[in-house]
Amino acid sequence: PDDRPDDRPDDRAGEGGQERFVLDPATPDLHGDNERLRQAGPVVPVTAEGVPAWAATRYDTLMTVLTHPDLTRELHHWSGRDALPPGTAIDRIVTDTSMLNAEGERHRRLRMPLTTAFSQRRLNGLRPRIEELTARLIDRLAGMPPDEPVDLRLEFAYPLPREVISELIGIPEAHQDDLHRLTDAVAQVGGLEDSPELRKELRELLDRIIEERRGTPGEDLISDLFALHEKDGGRLSEDELFATIELLFIAGHVTTVNLITNAIGALLTERGQLDLLRSGQCPYSAAVEETLRWDSPIAYFPMRYAKREVEIDGVRLRPGEPVLACFASANRDPRQYGEDAGVFDVTRPQFTHLAFGHGPHFCLGAPLARLEGEIAIKALFEAFPEMTLVRPVTELPPLDTLLGNSTRTMPVLLG
Ligand code: HEM
Repeated sequence: PDDRPDDRPDDRAGEGGQERFVLDPATPDLHGDNERLRQAGPVVPVTAEGVPAWAATRYDTLMTVLTHPDLTRELHHWSGRDALPPGTAIDRIVTDTSMLNAEGERHRRLRMPLTTAFSQRRLNGLRPRIEELTARLIDRLAGMPPDEPVDLRLEFAYPLPREVISELIGIPEAHQDDLHRLTDAVAQVGGLEDSPELRKELRELLDRIIEERRGTPGEDLISDLFALHEKDGGRLSEDELFATIELLFIAGHVTTVNLITNAIGALLTERGQLDLLRSGQCPYSAAVEETLRWDSPIAYFPMRYAKREVEIDGVRLRPGEPVLACFASANRDPRQYGEDAGVFDVTRPQFTHLAFGHGPHFCLGAPLARLEGEIAIKALFEAFPEMTLVRPVTELPPLDTLLGNSTRTMPVLLG
């Protein structure tokens, strides 16, 4: 029946129905919250940053949500979008016209031109360059006093993906300083979605860079996209071109910073796991996969919106209602991984996880993120075998965003 008001996301908490979970980025307890969410059910009413939504908490349910034909990423289907509280970052991560918010033919048109740039062949070509950038950062670390704490998030995890994505996109040398200043400021606030001013600055900078590339094309992604744009009589609009570059920059940077930071934290906490890598019993890529699963760099989002009434695992969604994708929660679901789902174990027999999503919007940059993670972690632990944590990871301040999952710092003694 259509008159079950008790479990609607727009109802108040506890009103004769299921408890409404409050997900507040200011008081994060990600893995604790996720355990409570999974126990509450597969599809649970939440308030995320003050926004009412359903949360898809379990592995199978999230797979269903990410591929369901009646659920969409197209933002205009979201009935509550115009009534968002001011300042909410939720689903305002990237420009509306980007592929992340497109479906069907439009999605294909925006995504297809990038598949070559992210193909395995191109990435293999990029490997030596990533190794070189990593070695340069490690040399810099080696020059620092070994008995003073170094924040590896800021000094290592942060710059590496920034350099890689800048090169891939084709940010000219002359703008690198501006970009560094801007992204360092972003690092201070935790994420771009939290700062409209910085976001505006990034837009202005990228606009300038795109303009310059128009006149002097090179061997980079902006030039590729531009050629396509010109050749096919505007197959990408100006706004779509900008949205693509911005999406790559946002999706390709802090996510990978979180991955590298979380892997360092996990391996310095679970030294037995690190020994397995060092002794060659397990490849470093296994540590990257297990970090993606166990401490997923994206915690929640992006949401899906019901195009029409739809039932997901026994819960009925009304048209226009949003469902939050709980990646970090699904990746620790005991139904999928057994009772030790909460254990960091690089020897797991299978590493399937949903950290990069699933279905048509599966992360375009997944092979690149994996490559960067593996190169970075291997080089770092080989260079500094005596490295130790300054404080337990559980005592480090987490990012205060529902999107990213990591700590704000990762202080270590390099030894
Ligand atoms: C989409 C995770 C790195 C580019 C996504 C999605 C997730 C994700 C969860 C959305 C899936 C969905 O909504 O169904 C991650 C993680 C990363 C990472 C955890 C690092 C560890 C990267 C990198 C790039 C990138 C390095 C590019 C340089 C993209 C793009 C999309 C996307 C373009 C949108 C795809 C689409 O809508 O079709 N990523 N990502 N990501 N990611 Fe990543």
